[in-house]
Amino acid sequence: MKVLIVSGTPKHEGLCHSCVESARLGVEKAGGDCEVVNLCQTKLKVCAVCGEGWGTCRQDHVCQFGDDGFDAIQEKLAAADALIFVTPVYWGDISEAMKAFFDRYRRCEASKGDSSALNGKRILLVASPGGSGNGMVSCFEQMERLCKHLKAEIFDFVGVNRWNREYKLVTIGEAASALVAQSK
Ligand SMILES: Cc1cc2nc3c(=O)[nH]c(=O)nc-3n(C[C@H](O)[C@H](O)[C@H](O)COP(=O)(O)O)c2cc1C
Repeated sequence: MKVLIVSGTPKHEGLCHSCVESARLGVEKAGGDCEVVNLCQTKLKVCAVCGEGWGTCRQDHVCQFGDDGFDAIQEKLAAADALIFVTPVYWGDISEAMKAFFDRYRRCEASKGDSSALNGKRILLVASPGGSGNGMVSCFEQMERLCKHLKAEIFDFVGVNRWNREYKLVTIGEAASALVAQSK
């Protein structure tokens, strides 16, 4: 049972990093194998909007600039049994690093229709608005739309701010354990 955590935080400490750690511990507690991919550590290019709006992503379902690390992450997503996406809320949205990846990934996978690598795959969504606390709903709206395009199944939404941090970090661990148990 392989769970891939896709993280969009640039930090190695703080609220969002704690969310990643709680998720990892929850997966391991339930007996799952866990890998964390940090999108900020891979300097991914943004979508080049090839041709007249589509490139090789539409027919071949690969990005023609995938040698920047994109292809390897695309393969990891396909190989995972379940997924956890964790992002800080920036400007009421997912982080720019996460957006750079998923803008390209969505083109490659959504263009496969029912053969999308994430079709029916369960995803736990975690967003941390650690500043004002605003923007959580709009961030989740973007994540929900992405999951729908990819035909993935949303397991749960967990929003974590400065005030609910203590009990929501516990919730993330329990949600990650439940994700493992229910994805077997
Ligand atoms: C560019 C930028 C935009 C941000 N926008 C928001 C926001 O819209 N709402 C919010 O509550 N916090 C916002 N924050 C704060 C982050 O959400 C916060 O840093 C994040 O929850 C991660 O917490 P951490 O930095 O302790 O890991 C923003 C931070 C940055 C750097």
